[in-house]
Amino acid sequence: MIRLTNINKEYDLGETKVSALKDVSLEIGRGDYAAIMGPSGSGKSTLMHILGILDTISSGQYYLEDYDITSLPDREQARIRNQHFGFIFQSFNLFPELSALENVMLPMSYAGVPWTRRKDRARDLLAEVGLEHRMTHLPTMMSGGEQQRVAIARALSNDPDLILADEPTGNLPSDKGEEIMQILEGFNRKGVTVVMVTHNPAQGERADRVIRLKDGVLLPEQEVVRA
Ligand SMILES: Nc1ncnc2c1ncn2[C@@H]1O[C@H](COP(=O)(O)OP(=O)(O)O)[C@@H](O)[C@H]1O
Ligand SMILES: [Mg+2]
Repeated sequence: MIRLTNINKEYDLGETKVSALKDVSLEIGRGDYAAIMGPSGSGKSTLMHILGILDTISSGQYYLEDYDITSLPDREQARIRNQHFGFIFQSFNLFPELSALENVMLPMSYAGVPWTRRKDRARDLLAEVGLEHRMTHLPTMMSGGEQQRVAIARALSNDPDLILADEPTGNLPSDKGEEIMQILEGFNRKGVTVVMVTHNPAQGERADRVIRLKDGVLLPEQEVVRA
């Protein structure tokens, strides 16, 4: 689905440059469940931003289904993000003034989905993540685990091919983190590709692939052996 070849990412800090990714080549296949691991500052979030076309690359190529998308205009990149990718962040990133239902409906309005269909689908998704009783709640009225479940429903609203989750359980107690893992794994079993950053080795081991970064360099991937 996605092929990155020889990606370099430098952040220009005026007098100095930070080389956050160095010559990274990586393929993400349809249906993959991949964990990205590595120490703090190793480039995990940078790689997620690049996979999600949220940031530009300094050099290298990004192919989505064999199309080089790096040269596409911003508007076209935004359309790809909206229709094919779903994002989940450590800090939930919900709109505080919108209800759970409205948060989940929002990406569908950018995609031009009619209002009644948006509303029906948002209700279905919130029910699927166990929040049928929280539809009209504002984020501030919900626990962290509930907010992250809203964020998952929102990420799924446009039926994405790929979910990018950057430490989705990082701000949650372990039992709530486990709920989030199980929801993501459930959608992966239904065919959604999941790429997830985690610091938690036990979570990483649950993935089919572990992609390790160190100082911006991708380490050789080891095959996951299942008993
Ligand atoms: N917006 C930015 N501007 C400058 N440097 C950045 C920026 N974002 C990240 N970096 C630097 O790039 C490196 C990788 O950061 P990041 O991808 O956030 O790592 P991780 O998610 O693994 O902790 C770090 O050295 C970090 O300081
Ligand atoms: Mg990070």
